[in-house]
Amino acid sequence: MELRTVEWKNDSVVMIDQTKLPNELVFVKYTDFNDVATAIRTLVVRGAPAIGVSGAFGMALAVLQSSSETLEGLLSDLKNAKKILFETRPTAVNLSWGLETIMKVAKQGKTVSEIRNTVIAKAKQMAEEDINTNKKIGKNGAELFQDDDTIMTHCNAGALATVGYGTALGVIRATKESGKNIKVIATETRPVQQGSRLTAFELKHDNIDVSLIPDTAVGYTMANGLVNGVVVGADRILQTGHVFNKIGTYQVATMAKQHNIPFYVAAPLSTFDLESRPEDVIIEQRKPSEVTGIGDKKTAPDGIDVINPAFDMTPPGLISGIITENGIAKPPYEDSIKKLFKAN
Ligand code: MRU
Repeated sequence: MELRTVEWKNDSVVMIDQTKLPNELVFVKYTDFNDVATAIRTLVVRGAPAIGVSGAFGMALAVLQSSSETLEGLLSDLKNAKKILFETRPTAVNLSWGLETIMKVAKQGKTVSEIRNTVIAKAKQMAEEDINTNKKIGKNGAELFQDDDTIMTHCNAGALATVGYGTALGVIRATKESGKNIKVIATETRPVQQGSRLTAFELKHDNIDVSLIPDTAVGYTMANGLVNGVVVGADRILQTGHVFNKIGTYQVATMAKQHNIPFYVAAPLSTFDLESRPEDVIIEQRKPSEVTGIGDKKTAPDGIDVINPAFDMTPPGLISGIITENGIAKPPYEDSIKKLFKAN
């Protein structure tokens, strides 16, 4: 069974509740955009492309929830929903991309019923396109890996972080589908453990050979020749090639450089933010309890001060290539990223 992370079904949004994985595969159904906002904030759904599409589906619920009979009234209700959905998580640019795309479509509508139809149709189309885009990213990235390679990945940039197939794990899936025999090393990804709970779960589900390591074993596995390449996803990529991704990505990239191991980022064009500078990007800070415990088990003394950033920035000098649906950008990124967008 192919995993579908988020889906529009009978005027509602259906999602896998990722907080329950890997122990239970539970689907939740929402008909209120406020509940979608809570789902994004509490990581029921997470991963940049998945929250982009979830935001769009949240807007689709908002057009159904609005009782307004005027264009102005409906657009104002949508603006309110957009604000609530936008404020859930600050780092992944895909969320604002999803919300803006829907808002643009809504503004073009001439009647209330036209807006209702076009918004829902656009959100559904964005979900379908996500899977096609990931397949193209996968195909482009598969060329970078050889038969018998072991590929490291960090966090979860898989089917569960997108609508389906995945970005970094899409590259891994496509490499395997191209007939190459590959193995994967997945980092645990503390504190929320997207690596052990989600990446290990979905690769095992697809019968892809995966070994789990604690984050602290990245250096050991690379120094001992156990890794041939790294591929990770991204939450935001700047024009300069600076990549914002799950906390710990910078450490993995630095260690890869130290051992001359190629480090790739796989992401759709909707993850690029061509306007911001590195210092403009807000790094989400999450609650201390994610660090002071594992699940319900307390693992730190009461009252301890905690620093818990959810993302970090990897500078372009550590990145061997950025794999997109339009091809692979190589350094210098200012030029190669511009070319990717021109090819659009
Ligand atoms: O906090 P999360 O789980 O939403 O963080 C997810 C990541 O950092 C992923 O690597 C990123 O969104 C890329 S997903 C294709």
